[in-house]
Amino acid sequence: FCFPKPRNEPTKNYAPGSVERKLMRKKLSRQEKIKVEIPVIIGGKEVRTGKIREVTMPCDHGHVLAIYHEAGPKETELAIKEALLAKKEWESLHWTERCAVMLKVAELISNKYRYLLNAATMLGQAKNVHQAEIDAACESIDFLRFGAYQASYIYQWQPLQPHEYDCVNKMEYRPLEGFVLTISPFNFTAIALSLNSSVITMGNTTIWKPARTSLLSSYYLMKIFEEAGLPPGVINFLPGPGSEISEVALRNTNFAGLHFTGSTDTFNTLWKKLGENISKYKNYPRIVGETGGKDFIFAHYSADIHALATALVRGAFEYQGQKCSAASRAYIPKSIWKKLREILVDWTKNLSVGDVRDFKNFVNAVIDEASYKKIMGYIEKAKTSPNAKIIVGGNGDKRTGYYVEPTIIETNDPNFLTMNEEIFGPVLTIFVYEDERFEETLTLCDSTSSYGLTGSIFAKDRKAIEKAAKILRYAAGNFYINDKPTGAVVCQQPFGGARASGTNDKAGTYLNLIRWISPRTIKENL
Ligand code: SER
Repeated sequence: FCFPKPRNEPTKNYAPGSVERKLMRKKLSRQEKIKVEIPVIIGGKEVRTGKIREVTMPCDHGHVLAIYHEAGPKETELAIKEALLAKKEWESLHWTERCAVMLKVAELISNKYRYLLNAATMLGQAKNVHQAEIDAACESIDFLRFGAYQASYIYQWQPLQPHEYDCVNKMEYRPLEGFVLTISPFNFTAIALSLNSSVITMGNTTIWKPARTSLLSSYYLMKIFEEAGLPPGVINFLPGPGSEISEVALRNTNFAGLHFTGSTDTFNTLWKKLGENISKYKNYPRIVGETGGKDFIFAHYSADIHALATALVRGAFEYQGQKCSAASRAYIPKSIWKKLREILVDWTKNLSVGDVRDFKNFVNAVIDEASYKKIMGYIEKAKTSPNAKIIVGGNGDKRTGYYVEPTIIETNDPNFLTMNEEIFGPVLTIFVYEDERFEETLTLCDSTSSYGLTGSIFAKDRKAIEKAAKILRYAAGNFYINDKPTGAVVCQQPFGGARASGTNDKAGTYLNLIRWISPRTIKENL
């Protein structure tokens, strides 16, 4: 048995005058007028803790989109109990039944809740309509459909010697024994979804701590799972402080796994905590995490300048540079720099910055005040350094929303702070190198920054491409040739990197799904 091979969900383009543009606008204006009350959801029941917090719009921070009830240690304990209880029935379902729920969620997002999920992502996470569509709608649907498709291969794969003279051998794909903690980031609605869907597809149950800054879309995801028929307790929704929730989860003897996307620092802290508690656990937990990046675009002198400029602008500034895959450092040969610089300055200056509700805006607000301050701090350092200069942008304005101008820094120091550290904002740093130092500069690129997530080489010269691919072998888990380093499509370019960027368990593929099973080998004598 096999599901038909899915196709990636087609992207709607929201062109002026289109039906989808009208529908999207209608949904947005309805959504911005209501104030949603977000409860904690444990074992299918809504819990109102009374510890109320607000969810505001990054593009218009005086605008309250929702209030939420904060979960704490007590709710986490309860959620663990419910997750363990729900697992008994959920894991005993045939895998096709679990996949059917995932396919139903995909169907609901595609046909019923597409505009709602996009609106929540636009207003709550400050994504423009196109960025919301490729994330909340298309990538979410792809994760679900390809997840089910790939799970069907795992469950039916018996690559053993089934009969050996007098016995029968079998591999049983059990889920993990215990519950899984999922911790999702603000920057992709689809990641929040897939951190849970991959784990539960394989028969596990989760307690889910969504990011504070994406609660509106996370809550709607939870409701869509419920509407699709997910049994109570399979996912338990815990909006609240990560430190309190993980503290309780990580000291529980039934803690079986962590599925995480977020900062390297948080992942390291969790890993240390896990280490401290290791003797408490019934099982060695599975740890799967995708963390930060300091992603590069490396150009050879044979590069197509317009393609390169497009990749730099889109890679660095789409979604305000808040993708872990965003291009944030570039290596440009001197012979093409003058021409490229003119194009970059011109295009960047003309990017419109503003509210997501105005569809013409390419760059929107960054996620919150802390992020705004951090980004502006890096820009200030570049302004005052003798080794760097701002060639375009450099200003911020947080009066109504957290707006940072798309900014390009040129540095003569390949180890300058902004060539090394993850900024998570619309800031691109460029190092110009002498053309003849191509190989040497590739080696430099490989050793700069501790991350290993994404990166691109731009060249027409095949030998240059091969050289870059070889020297940068471990510098990026997603390596692009003549393309920007963002926008991986599910099951076309499985996503993830190593080094300080995570465990590289390629999201949306069998490589990730198999982390959520604990196989049992069975031999029966005849
Ligand atoms: N998958 C996203 C991208 O490729 C990042 O998480 O841009």
